[in-house]
Parts: sequence; C-alpha cells; structure tokens
Amino acid sequence: MPIVRHTASCCALLIAVSFATTASSQPAPPKPPDAVVAGIPANYEESKVGTYTLPDPLTLADGKPVRDATTWMTKRRPALVKLFEEEQFGRAPGRPAAMRFEVVEKGTAAFDGRATRRQVTIFLTADHSGPKIHLLEYLPAGAKTPAPLLLGINFSANSNAVTDPGVAVGEVWDAKTKTLIPATQGRSFGKMSVEPLIDAGIGFATFYYGDVEPDFAEGYALGIREKYLKPGQAERAPDEWGSIAAWSWGMSRAMDYLETDKDVDAKRVAIHGVSRLGKTVMWAGAHDTRFAAVIASCSGEGGAALSRRNYGETIAHLTAPTRFPYQFALNYGKFGGYPDTAPMDANLLVALIAPRPLLLQTGDTDFWSDPKGEFLAAVDASRVYKLLGKDGLDTTEWPAAKQPILHDLAYYMHDGGHGMVPSDWDIYIQFLKQHLKP
Ligand code: GCU
Repeated sequence: MPIVRHTASCCALLIAVSFATTASSQPAPPKPPDAVVAGIPANYEESKVGTYTLPDPLTLADGKPVRDATTWMTKRRPALVKLFEEEQFGRAPGRPAAMRFEVVEKGTAAFDGRATRRQVTIFLTADHSGPKIHLLEYLPAGAKTPAPLLLGINFSANSNAVTDPGVAVGEVWDAKTKTLIPATQGRSFGKMSVEPLIDAGIGFATFYYGDVEPDFAEGYALGIREKYLKPGQAERAPDEWGSIAAWSWGMSRAMDYLETDKDVDAKRVAIHGVSRLGKTVMWAGAHDTRFAAVIASCSGEGGAALSRRNYGETIAHLTAPTRFPYQFALNYGKFGGYPDTAPMDANLLVALIAPRPLLLQTGDTDFWSDPKGEFLAAVDASRVYKLLGKDGLDTTEWPAAKQPILHDLAYYMHDGGHGMVPSDWDIYIQFLKQHLKP
C-alpha cells in the first residue's frame, strides 16, 4: 500500500514514496511545515486559529430548522450538493450515453488462487481514442454470494499499484513532457495490499486517476473535460467541473461497470483515496449515493478539514495560480482569503455522506492537512448522522493518535505524516468488515 509523505509545498510530482509494505516500516520524522506557501503565510499555532461560525447543516436556506430525515433528504441535502457543485468542485455531466465496457480479462486466478482477477476497459467517449478507464478488479475466489468491494482511485497505473505480474502494463502521464509514458518508466506510489482484503471476503478494484484526466493545469485539454466543451467554448464556466470533480465522475463510471458485474454486490461498494484523491472520494461519496461507504485519507483542505479554521493549508493556498486552481470550480477561488464568506464548509461535506459510513484517516504530524480540522468537521456533522439514526463521533474530544473512533462516522489518526501507512490498512479492513456486512 502506498506510503505517501510530503510537505506543504509539494505537488503530485514531488510526492516522496516508500515502497515498504511491512508493519515494521516507520513514517519519516516530521519535517517542519512550510511557513509560507505560494507567497501566502500558513498558520500552525492553535492560539492563532481565530474564531469562526460554521454554516449549519440543520438549517434550511430560508432559516427553517431541519428536524427530520425526510427534510434532510428531500430539501437540505439536494441544496447542499448543488452548493458544493457550483461553488467548490464544479458541475459534472451525467453518465455518458456512449460509454461502453469491455471485459478484457474475464477471470484469472490471482494471489495463489485466493482471488479472481478481472481487467475491464471503460470507454468514456464514443470515439475509442478518447479517455478510457482501465479498471483492475479482484474478487474473493469461490465466494458463494456477490462480494462487497473497495474501489480505490490511484496515483499510478494498475501495474504499479499492485504486486501482480498478471496485470497489463499501463501508461502514466509524464508531467514534464505532458505525454503518456509506459508505467515502467513512471513513478509508482507504493503497492496496495490486496490479499488481506480478499481474505476478509472483500473484493478490490482500482484505476489510475490519469486515465480520466492528467493532474496538471494543462491536463484540461488532454482529459475528459475537453470532450465536453461546447462548440466554440474555449474556457470552462466558473461553475463547471475541476479535475477533482472529473476524477470523482470517473469513480461513478467505474461504479456503472461494477453494477453490471454479477459477482459484485453493488450495494456494498466502498471507496478510498489519499490526499487530493481523498478530496476526490469525499466529493464522489457526497455526490453519488450509490457508494455505500467512504474512506478518505488525509483529504485536508478542500476535503474534510474546516476552511474557516485557519490552520495549515487554506483555500487561498489551494487556489493560488501556481498551485491547484484547476482541481476545483473556478468559483472556489473567490473564497481564498475569505473562507467566512463561503456558503459551505467541510462540516457540510462530511454531512453529505450521512447516513453512510465515513472514515476520516489523518496523521498527527500532517500539519498542512489539519487533522484536527477534520475532526471538528466530523464533530459538527455528527448531528446529521444522529438525525438519520446513525452514530456520529459521540465525542468532542480530539483523540490522540492510534485511538480510532469506529462509529458510522469514524475518525482515525496514525502517528505520522501525510498519506497512508501500512497500519492504516488494518483499520480500514476493520471498518469495512463492520459496515459492509450483507
Ligand atoms: C498538496 C496540496 C494538498 C493535497 C496534496 C496531495 O499538498 O496542497 O491539498 O492534498 O498536495 O494531493 O498530495
């Protein structure tokens, strides 16, 4: 499984990776956080966080309270989804009419016969030279009933994401030349540990986010969003999709395929992603209720961390011209430096996943992503879980590292920095076993 560590000023290119997959591997000692990123100071002192008032998930736009699940589901939730669509991630199109699945590998024994491997191409456009998702899928061999499954979105091609020589060698984007190169020449971000999931009776599927769109500003012209430009349209409108919405959309397209796979229980598909892909799964889970559960690793600012809490990365850092404005709706930039003026914050994003289980995994020295800000968002969103008859965090006390709270709304902080470490995987499996029961 990937161990991703980096400092505040890094981008995808600079993510340093360890390939260690054993329990003995230790996270690197924390680096002091960068005080200024993209010319914008970052605060790391609790005393300077400031005071703020969060937008209330349980109040409608007209000021009336949300007192029951029906009002949440039929009024408040749709209004909030629209808000995040227009102001943060950008509106994405629906399922493409021309989409087609080709099961390239129908079922081959893998991992000493413990799993059955499938490889599927999801053509996203009528013209097959357009973007396509290469989905790699493992199912527990000999399962008597359709299996639950964890769908992960990955930073590298499938052949780099698992240790399995049977996986077709993929291609990855080279950010320097802006071209696709063989995955063998590209970077791997560590390996996903598939076997323990399979042994727990849970399937695993994954794809490379670059299959949908490359992760750099110019990626727009090379990925799926360009295919949706109207004739004569040169630039996206302020409320149109950024690349995080595009990657989330790709997860929904993978789900479209999984719904057709008779060996998968499509009602029990959880999703997982790390960092910007943690933000991606937060939005995919908030938006597409077919996903039964979400595990967001270090999603931070723009994900589960509160923007109004001035700690670590801020909207201004995220949307600075030299950083990641392409990942969000252009509208999001308006709130850079003014998070209090945004009609939304992360507590609402967390609430949008309710009543479905959500695990926020953070790291105690991942200061840039503000692990406490994620906890506080979940504390507030707990009220929505409660309203819907589920367990929120049930505490307002930030737990120390390695003290998981595994309720329907779950929080876990490893001792270490940004990303996922091997011991997180055990927590994930515990969480999934708990929540993906038939
Ligand atoms: C940067 C960015 C974060 C993001 C991270 C990543 O550090 O500022 O918001 O989560 O990259 O995706 O690795």
